[in-house]
Amino acid sequence: MFSPRYLHMQSRIYVSSKNFNSSFSTSSRPIAKFDVSNGKDSDSQTSELNPKGKHLGVFSHSTVKLPEQLKKAVDKILSSCTDTNLSQNAEILKNHLIFKKPPLTETKLQEIKVRFTEKLSAAHPSPDNSFLSAEDEKKIQNTLKSKIQKVVSQNTYRWKPVIYNEAVALTYLVARIAPEYATLYQIFQEICSRDQNFQPQTLFDFGSGIGSALWSAKSCWGDKKFKEVFCVDSSVDMNNLALALIQGGVWPNKASDFNPIDLDEKEFSSTIKGLYFRQFMPASSAVKYDLVVCAHSLLELPSAELRLQIALSLWRKSQGYLVFVEHGSRAAFEVIMEVRDFLLSLSEGNKESNLQGYVFAPCPNKTRCPRLAETTPCNFEVKYEPLQINQRIQKERYSYLVLKKGQRPDEDLQWPRVVRPVLVRSGHVICRLCTQEGKLEEIVITRAKNSKLENLMARRTKWGDLLPVQLSRPDTTELECTLEDEKNL
Ligand SMILES: C[S@@+](CC[C@H](N)C(=O)[O-])C[C@H]1O[C@@H](n2cnc3c(N)ncnc32)[C@H](O)[C@@H]1O
Repeated sequence: MFSPRYLHMQSRIYVSSKNFNSSFSTSSRPIAKFDVSNGKDSDSQTSELNPKGKHLGVFSHSTVKLPEQLKKAVDKILSSCTDTNLSQNAEILKNHLIFKKPPLTETKLQEIKVRFTEKLSAAHPSPDNSFLSAEDEKKIQNTLKSKIQKVVSQNTYRWKPVIYNEAVALTYLVARIAPEYATLYQIFQEICSRDQNFQPQTLFDFGSGIGSALWSAKSCWGDKKFKEVFCVDSSVDMNNLALALIQGGVWPNKASDFNPIDLDEKEFSSTIKGLYFRQFMPASSAVKYDLVVCAHSLLELPSAELRLQIALSLWRKSQGYLVFVEHGSRAAFEVIMEVRDFLLSLSEGNKESNLQGYVFAPCPNKTRCPRLAETTPCNFEVKYEPLQINQRIQKERYSYLVLKKGQRPDEDLQWPRVVRPVLVRSGHVICRLCTQEGKLEEIVITRAKNSKLENLMARRTKWGDLLPVQLSRPDTTELECTLEDEKNL
């Protein structure tokens, strides 16, 4: 089904992302002034912050487990599955998806062709052809052309759609349910924690697959609160599998295979009033949803035009949050940034209030992402319990984007995002941050220069959290002192 050559490539993806220090300037670190009054829990006293150092920028990083109800449904479905190669195929599919890239654009393909032609001509300068007949010269030209074509096709990524039939849908379930549920759960937890008044009643999920978004949203906000859940997935088999999971592992009536599935309260054991599965996006964007999700589906689309078209439709459909998430690879990160910049440009230059919004997470800014100028993607990590029992806890890397409709509220202080693991040393803590100004900065919190509370706050902060600080540049005399202090760390 998928070429096993992807298997041995798995470790390569993490190599560049471990190259943490390259982009964080250490020669002129900014000064961090802790926002202690804003960094405390709203209902706790500053003094209560001291023992724990937990602040409002810290989000949940505990290992995510599938809900019992979902786990039981998965077990039931898999217990009746006769495919003995399921685990092996799941591993192959997982790696295929990790290394998936968007299809090359025609312009990019032409650029590659020109590059290879130039390389080949430089390596084999054409001999004097003046004595050749026109026919022989044509033959040589054709040989060269087919050689170029071969080299180009060997050296370019060939995007192919994954056909999610019943077998692939089951393979996908084994390979991806645990990490995808965990990723969305972690992202939704951040929304819950930063916007406690947000209680979504309607959810729209594009490329809904096995329904991870619905399950994660149910876990974060409670299923009793959802009045409508609208899932769009072009694969009937994916829709059926998602429905089977919701029904506790019972496959839907095969008659529904060829029809869009509508469920009402009677048919669905949960309390969601309207649950819809469709194969196509609704033509109108008149109906709006509180939470709109597009998880691991952008790279499934065959062109950049379609990606942006879908992104715009989803933005129009949203009246609260719009969430994009992809695997934490460079290619996936770039696709997320493409969508971010496109939607932000529409939001900025458009009078239509329905298009206005801002980046809620992870960026504390609307500038061009500083990571686009280098090779490391901006990604985060979630720990999850794998589907197979007795397997150790796993980690999934992901890139994501949460946009929110409307204007950024004044109380949003745009604290910097911690974009790499926090380095906790005996006398100091190093935090690598992406700032409100769209810069990558490194700050050092020391016992000598910072209070006990500030040290605790820094120690409690993890990769992916917000650090409640305001940054400013030291003047040069202060900088000399800082560097001198650092030698003594
Ligand atoms: C990698 S899966 C993501 C699954 C899902 N988000 C989840 O978390 O379970 C991508 C899904 O996108 C669907 N898909 C691909 N192209 C689509 C399109 N044009 N419209 C709707 N769904 C599409 C596929 O059928 C597949 O189920």
